[in-house]
Amino acid sequence: MKRLFILLGSTLLFTVLIFVGYRTFGVQKFNGSVLQSPIKTPPIVLRSDAGPVSFDEYRGKLVLLYFGYTSCPDVCPTSLANLKLAMNELTPEEATQVQVIFVSVDPARDTPEALGKYVKLFQDDFIGATGTREEIDLVTSAFGAKYKINPPDTNGNYSVDHTSFTILIDRNGYYIMNFSHGTPPAEMSADLRYLLKNNMPISAQILAGPTYTPVVCAVTLIPAHVQGGEWLYQHHCAQCHGADMAGNPAWQTTLADGSHLPPPLNGNGNAWNYSEQDMINIIKEGRNLDQPIHMPAFKSTLADWEINFILTYIKTTWDVGQLNYQHGFMTLTPQTTSTPINTPLPPPTTATPAP
Ligand code: HEC
Repeated sequence: MKRLFILLGSTLLFTVLIFVGYRTFGVQKFNGSVLQSPIKTPPIVLRSDAGPVSFDEYRGKLVLLYFGYTSCPDVCPTSLANLKLAMNELTPEEATQVQVIFVSVDPARDTPEALGKYVKLFQDDFIGATGTREEIDLVTSAFGAKYKINPPDTNGNYSVDHTSFTILIDRNGYYIMNFSHGTPPAEMSADLRYLLKNNMPISAQILAGPTYTPVVCAVTLIPAHVQGGEWLYQHHCAQCHGADMAGNPAWQTTLADGSHLPPPLNGNGNAWNYSEQDMINIIKEGRNLDQPIHMPAFKSTLADWEINFILTYIKTTWDVGQLNYQHGFMTLTPQTTSTPINTPLPPPTTATPAP
C-alpha cells in the first residue's frame, strides 16, 4: 500500500513538473505575425510637437508604430482607437512600458503640431511624428511599409494609400512582429503582456517556418535563470573563459602540443554553432582531456539545471541569428559576421539620387 502511495505521489509530482516545465519553456503562440528575420530599427530622427523622436530613445520599452495621416477617413482612426483599447487592457505599470508612435506619411499637410493634437485626441501620451519626404521614405522602407499619395481632386484634396498594420518594436530596438488591421485589442494586449512579462529580448524570438505566420517562440531567457547562470559562470568558467566570456585572445592558435586555449563563449566565438545538446555534453564531459590544456568535465560538479542556467546566461550574449541557429530553428548557413545586439548602429544610409 505504502509503495502504491509513493508511486502515485511520484507520478503526480512528475506530471506537475512537466506541466510547470511546459509553462516555463512552452511554446508561445502570438496573435501578431512574427517576422522571420527581425529588423533593426533605422537610426532616423523624426519630428514631433515635443521635439525630435528616434526609435533608439525607446530601447527598454515596447513600441507600437503605425504609419498613416491625419486626414485619413477611417483606417487610421480605427487603428488608433484600437491601440488605445489595447493599451487600456494593460495595467498602468505595463502601459508605462509601451509607447505608441503614429508616423505621418503626409508631411505636406501634417505638421508636427497638427499631429500632436491629432494623436492626443486618442490618448495623451501617444506620439505623433513625421519628417521630410526623404526621412519618411527611409523609415517606411526600413520597416517594409508602403504608401502612395494619390493625385488631388478638383478641390486639391487627396487621399493616401498606406500599409495598415501596426508594427511592434521590442525592447532591444528590433521590429519583431506586426498586427494586421482589425486585430482585436485584447489579442494585441495579450502579446504585449507576454513580451513584457517574460522580458523577452528579441534574441530569444525563435521563429519557425518560412512564412510570417504561424509563430512559435520556444525559448525565453528567464531573468532569474540568467542571474543564477551568471553566478555559476563566474564561479566555474570565468577563470578560463574570462569574466566577459571573451576567451583567450590566442584561442584560434593551435599550440605545439595540439591543444587550444579557452575559446570565447560569447557571439564572437563558435560555441553557438553547437546544438544545445552538444553544448551540454561538452560541459559535462569536458574537452581534450588528454591534452595539456583542456576543459575539465563538469558532470560530477554541476547539476543539469545548473548547466542549463549557465547556458541561458551565455546565450544572453548571442544575437538573434546565433540563437535561432543554435536552437535548430534556422537551417541557413550561420552568419559568422552577425551583429551582436549591443553594437552601435551603423551611420544612416542616405539615398543616393539617381543620375
Ligand atoms: C580550466 C579551464 C576551463 C574551465 C574552468 C572551463 N573551460 Fe570550457 N574550455 C576550455 C578549453 C581549453 C576549451 C577548448 C578545448 C579545445 O577544444 O581545445 C574549452 C571549450 C569549451 C567549449 C567549446 C567551445 C568551442 O567553441 O568549441 C564550451 C562550450 C565550454 N568550454 C564551456 C565551458 C563552461 C560553460 C564552463 C564552466 C562550466 C567551462 N567551459 C569551464 C577550458 C575551460
